[in-house]
This record gives sequence, C-alpha cells and structure tokens, in this order.
Amino acid sequence: MSRRILVTNALPYANGPLHLGHMVGYIQADIWVRFQRMSGHDVTYVCADDAHGTPIMLAAEKAGVAPETFIAGMQASHAADFAAFGVAFDHYHSTHSDENRRLAESIYTRLKANGYIVSRFIEQAYDPVKEMFLPDRYIKGECPKCGTKDQYGDNCENCGATYGPTDLKNPFSVVSGAAPVLKESEHYFFELSKLQAEVEQWLERADVHSSVKAKLREWLDGGLRDWDISRDAPYFGFEIPGAPGKYFYVWLDAPIGYFASLSALLGNDDAKLSQFIGPDSTAEMWHFIGKDIINFHGLFWPAMLKGAGHRQPTGLSVNGYLTVNGAKMSKSRGTFIKARTYLDAGLNPEYLRYYFAAKLSDGVDDLDLNLDDFVARVNSDIVGKYVNIASRCAPFLNKYFAGQLSATLAPAVADTLGSYFGAKPAAVFEAYGRRDYAEALRQTMALADAANQWIQDVEPWSLAKLIEQHSLGPFRTKTGRDVSFVSADEVRKSLHEATTAFIEIFRVLTVLLAPVLPNLAAKASQFLGDAAGRDLSQPQLGYTVRAFEPLATRIDPAQIKAMIAASTESLGSAEAPKAKPAKTAAAPAAPTPPAATAAGAEAHASIEDFAKIDLRIARIEHAESVEGADKLLRLQLDLGPLGKRQVFAGIKSAYPPETLVGRLTVMVANLAPRKMRFGMSEGMVLAASNDQGGPFLLAPDDGAQPGMKVK
Ligand code: 2FM
Ligand code: ZN
Repeated sequence: MSRRILVTNALPYANGPLHLGHMVGYIQADIWVRFQRMSGHDVTYVCADDAHGTPIMLAAEKAGVAPETFIAGMQASHAADFAAFGVAFDHYHSTHSDENRRLAESIYTRLKANGYIVSRFIEQAYDPVKEMFLPDRYIKGECPKCGTKDQYGDNCENCGATYGPTDLKNPFSVVSGAAPVLKESEHYFFELSKLQAEVEQWLERADVHSSVKAKLREWLDGGLRDWDISRDAPYFGFEIPGAPGKYFYVWLDAPIGYFASLSALLGNDDAKLSQFIGPDSTAEMWHFIGKDIINFHGLFWPAMLKGAGHRQPTGLSVNGYLTVNGAKMSKSRGTFIKARTYLDAGLNPEYLRYYFAAKLSDGVDDLDLNLDDFVARVNSDIVGKYVNIASRCAPFLNKYFAGQLSATLAPAVADTLGSYFGAKPAAVFEAYGRRDYAEALRQTMALADAANQWIQDVEPWSLAKLIEQHSLGPFRTKTGRDVSFVSADEVRKSLHEATTAFIEIFRVLTVLLAPVLPNLAAKASQFLGDAAGRDLSQPQLGYTVRAFEPLATRIDPAQIKAMIAASTESLGSAEAPKAKPAKTAAAPAAPTPPAATAAGAEAHASIEDFAKIDLRIARIEHAESVEGADKLLRLQLDLGPLGKRQVFAGIKSAYPPETLVGRLTVMVANLAPRKMRFGMSEGMVLAASNDQGGPFLLAPDDGAQPGMKVK
C-alpha cells in the first residue's frame, strides 16, 4: 500500500556556511526519500533555514547589514550547497517567513487557550551597555576554581570544572565587554509537565531508535520542567501576540518551520496542509535530526503539537556527529571542511553520499570520514566494481551485437543470473527501508563482487579475441577453467550471453545504488534505455542498450590535498588567493587547469558557467588592515548604482592599504556573503598570483565606471 510521508531535516542556522558535518543528516534523509519514492510512496520532503535568534542578530549587526539581508544570503548559499549534493527538497523555506509567523502564532495561541502558557518574572544577566539580556554563551569570565581567564559560563577549558555563568569571577559580556548585571523581566513558559503523560504515550508508539528512546525516557523519568519560550527585545524573531517587546525563543518557532515550509509548498492551502498536520492526518511525519537536538524533537515538539491539537511525529531518525580522520573536525588540521570547499576541489558530491551511506546504519554512532579510506573505497566500489561491469562488457555488446542483449540464455547462465534477482535486491530494499544503508551497500557490493568474479571467470575479452582471430580455442581462463568451442557461432553465443548477463546485473546494481548515487544512476539509465525502469523480480532480455559513455572517474588524491589546503587556511579559500591558481577575469579558459580538476575531469568551464559569475568594476573607497589577520585587508568597495560592499582580501603583503584608496578593480559581486571572524565578506576582488609573485590586483582601463559589468 502506498504511504504518504512527510520528511524533514533539521533546519540549519542561517549564520554560517554548511560543512561536511551538516551533510550527514541531509544525505541520510535524501537517500531515504529517494528510496521511498522508488518504492512507490508519496513523499514530501521539506526544509528551511533557521533564521532567528541572538547569534544571527549579532552576526548581521557585525556585518553591518540588516538581519533580513544577512539571512537571505545564507539561505541562498545553503540552498545551493544542498542542490549540489543532490539533497533535493521539494521546498526550502525560511523560519523568517509569513507562513512561519502565522503558524507560530496559531500554535502559541492554541497552547495558551488550552492553558499551557504561564508568565512569571525571572532574573537574568543583562548587558547594561548593549542594553540586552545575555544568553549564557555571551558571558565569559575567570574560572571560579582555577582562575583561568576567558572561560564560558559552563565549564573551564583548563581544569574541567563545571559551573553556571553566575559563578564566573569578573564576568564580562562578550558583546560589549561590560560587566553583566542581574535584571528582572517577565517571561512566558510552556508548562510541559502538564503534557508529560501525552509525551510518554507518544514515545511508546513512535518509531525511534532504542538508544534514543532510552535517553528520552530518562529525561521523562526526571520529570518535564516548564520551558521558557520568550525572549526580550532586542531579538531577531517574531513578537509574541499580546506581549509587546517579547519574542518567541528561536527554538519555539524553529520546528514550526517544518510546517511553514510545507505550507508554502502547498500554496498555503489549509485543507491540504491539515492532511499532513491535522490531528487525524494519516500521513507519516519523519524528522531527521542530529543527536544534539533530541530533547527538542522528542520532548518539546511532541508536547507542543499535542497541546495545540496537531498530529505528532511518526518517527525520528537521529544521526551522530562527523569526525574526520578519527578526530573532531579542526580548522588548524584542515579537516573543518565546508561543503563548498569539497565541491570547489572538484570532488564529485555523490562520492561523499556513497561514503556516508556506506557508514550509516540506523544508530546514532558518530561517523568517521577517513580521507584515505574515502579515496580507496570510492575508487574501489564505485569505479572498480560497479562501473567496471558495464565498461568491461558494453563495448563487446555494442561491437558484436549492435547493443542488443541476447533474447535467450543457456540454463546455466540463466540460473546464475537469476540469483541476482528477486530475494537479493529485496533484501537490499529492506535494509534501505530501515535506514541501514551500510547493510544495503554491503549487500549491493557483494553482488558486484560476485559479478566481477563471474566476469573474470568468463573473460569476455578472451572470447572476443577468439572471434577476432577466427579461432575456436581451447584456452584456459585465468581462473583455471578450460574452454573450447566447437563452432564460431558457439563463441559468439557465449560472448553474447555473458555480456547480456553482466549488463543485466549492472541494471540491478544501478537500481540498488540509485538512492545514493542519483546522478550516476541517471547516466547509467540512459545507457540502459527503456530497460532501466523495469523491475528486479527477474532478468529482462533482448533489449538494446545505447552507446556507453564513461560513467565515473577515480578520485585523485591531489583533490583531497587541495581540499585540505583550502580548509587549513584559517580564513578559508576565497580570501586567500595564494592557495588557488591565478585568477584572471579575462581568461575563463585559463591555460592552467585548477588543481582540483587535475584528474582530467571537466577541466573546461562552459560559457554558461562563466555567465553565472557577476563581475563588476569597483572603486576602492576605503582600505585598512585587519587586526589579528596578517594577510588581510578590509576593503570598502563602491559599486556605483549597485551600492557598497565590504570585502576581505588577502592582498596585504603586496599593497599597503593607503595605496589602494581610489583605484578601480574587478570584483565578483554575486558570491554568497561569507561570515568571517572579522565581519561579513560580501564578495571577492580579483588578483593574479603564482609561486613567483603576486598578488597583482586586476584593474580596468581608463574610462571604466564603478558598477559596470565585466563580460
Ligand atoms: O541545531 C540546529 O542547528 C537548529 N537550527 C536545528 C533546528 S531543527 C528544527 F527544529 F527547526
Ligand atoms: Zn578552571
């Protein structure tokens, strides 16, 4: 029976670019979505940027832009990264949206009407200079135990002592440096304790991994406490209806963002929306989240939903953290890798999908991206095992049989081939269904191994040689089998049946890998033609394949090196021209291919690629050194009618800042803004450099005006 399933991924905060750690959960969900669709179910897959809260408000302020502008740039960058990794949401929204305001107000109002909201006065740390209440992470001071300076208000990095922010000695506000004072203010609380029994009942029936259930039960056994859902102005979020100056805490409206995104997708049609979120919904609702936010999704959210008369989640899929080379991701080791840096290194995003999938079971264990293992695994499994089957056999099928598979098979061949159909693919599907992708891929690769073994045994290339030489054997295969043929026809038949069987196995593997490798599977399906969509209960014979194009290239370890190098620079790649080959706006087909494409794949940029980059003339209005960054200059650029931009450029070694003021240069004007330690960088100026010299800032000839397009 076809199921209707709503799938969501945790909403990434709109305060920084995505890194590979983020990608685990998104790739995990996307694979499941693709698998469920392949199985005939009706899946709706939504996500959004999580745009509210103090950190985002302060980051925007630091960048000198309105929060709305700041979050718009982040949303665009997140959406682009997801698309590049094949994470194909039906809709990608923002929690700072009309839909979310409406739904958050509605849920809050219902909770209030149902008697779950109370208000009371509490005392909190307040920054008297900045005139704002301070979340704990914005207070630092000296460890009360060992006196180490600059410690956060939860634990000491030096002696490990744990304490609260009010225990810090000489506390100061991270925002202004002022000593915080305690100040009273009215807050709104969601009385979770009143819904404890309902949350417990939900947990009993919910589809949640046993270890997560155990954790949630532990919290429930300790009793649910009231949850503070309001924050005082200034706060970037939604004002609470009937409570001027009070805002919903970001975590109140964040999960509601799932519904907001869905509502936007459904054209804000309430009847359609309620089929998913109404109390009688028959749809499934699955949230894919990281293990750090289990409490929000396993306690608060089910309580909110129940208290407001909505349906509750069907299941939670919880993933662990990503480590790289066995350790926490680290900027100094170059293992804090942004999604964009991976892509810029020319690495195929599907290879990361494959590697993650191969290591993901339905548990919450952390996942290690071992980069050597990544290269070895991808090259061996995808290129060496899967693609190899087609690339070894397709040329013979095309050359000798016009691409047409044999319509009949000798019983022995049919028997062996038959063992790849039916139960084996079914077992792989079953593993996908319970999100044990590691098991699904283990079984898939076992089939690929067996097929490659069979190819080794039959040696189609030796049969082709017999045909070429008009000889009939006998010959001994590498596996020690003696073969001889009584007629030329028999040789041809043998080659035809063998290649038919191998291409059919390739078809099976293509279907089994499709949720993980959608693009590669699509390319393979083009080769397989109409047969690609046929079922896997039994072999299909007699169809004709199309011309075979190379499907996948190996990872060149140089690409990994380039990625690590680009991640090691403390400031990222865009601002540090040295790590990159010379950039020249005038030469899109530069003579030196980027290091990232050294493997030979896609060394050329198309004219369409080039057209995506908005290059503009900019006048350097102001230039200054950046404290704490020895390579960087902060540039204020005037783009004429397009306004002004702040850009950080790694050109300090060549240009004392005062020499730059007034001159014209070329900038990339449509890069997603990047949040840097020192503020927001809203583009990139172009400079040429290589080992011998540079950077040399590009400059237009006389007559160019700020804002002019470079093309
Ligand atoms: O932890 C986070 O990154 C949050 N932005 C996740 C929100 S998930 C959902 F509830 F919105
Ligand atoms: Zn200490």
